[in-house]
Amino acid sequence: MRPSFLVTAGPTREHLDPVRFLSNPSTGRMGFALARAARDAGARVTLVAGPVSLRPPAGVGLVRVRSAEEMRREVMRRYRDADVVIMAAAVSDYRPRRRLGRKMKKGAPSLAVPMVRTADILAGLGRRKGGRILVGFAAETGDPAAGARRKLREKNLDLVVGNDVSRGDAGFGSDRNRAVLVSRDGPVGRLPLMRKERLAAIIVRRCLAMVRRPQPRTFRQPRRYPDKPSTSSFKL
Ligand code: CTP
Repeated sequence: MRPSFLVTAGPTREHLDPVRFLSNPSTGRMGFALARAARDAGARVTLVAGPVSLRPPAGVGLVRVRSAEEMRREVMRRYRDADVVIMAAAVSDYRPRRRLGRKMKKGAPSLAVPMVRTADILAGLGRRKGGRILVGFAAETGDPAAGARRKLREKNLDLVVGNDVSRGDAGFGSDRNRAVLVSRDGPVGRLPLMRKERLAAIIVRRCLAMVRRPQPRTFRQPRRYPDKPSTSSFKL
């Protein structure tokens, strides 16, 4: 049977008012390349993408979202049918506590905006893992191996793709990436600088190998990450 991939891509936008938001420089290229690589490998693919200006890949179901909460809702709606979930999106960890309905006018010389944590989508999936393969990214400044290993353990993942986002020649906004691959069992694999398409093909191949080799069902409870925002009434 054709495996089913659920891939996320791009940034999220957390609005303060109708014209201002908190976001990051993710362009979605890595996630779109992963969706295409999975499609080319014969998988059924759904791509949940934040605001990006890339052309939708043919033969892939595209769902557009804006905020972390919208992305969480769309991922949770679809994860049951997925054999592999790859969270390549750069999801905002915080959002302004209140979204104003009208444009905020300037006033005082300085401004502090109260922020609250968003839900950690991937950690939430890690708690409902079942037999799925879960893949995360670790955006780190400096050597990404330690952070990638920590995220693998804490979010109950099978594979983490770590990259150093402080380097100008790779990562955010670049068409290339220099990644480390950290998996449950194997040693850290350090890959050279390569085009995101090539990295995507390597990641998809690793995922397909894991799908064919059934994983133990794990139900560990990572503690650090809330998987629901405090204000959400969304239920599985
Ligand atoms: N992620 C997520 N939901 C969030 C934040 C991150 O699902 N609210 C996912 C990302 O898509 C990525 C992984 O978690 O696959 C790691 O994201 P990263 O930003 O590197 O790390 P965080 O877990 O946010 O931790 P920190 O910012 O403290 O490094």
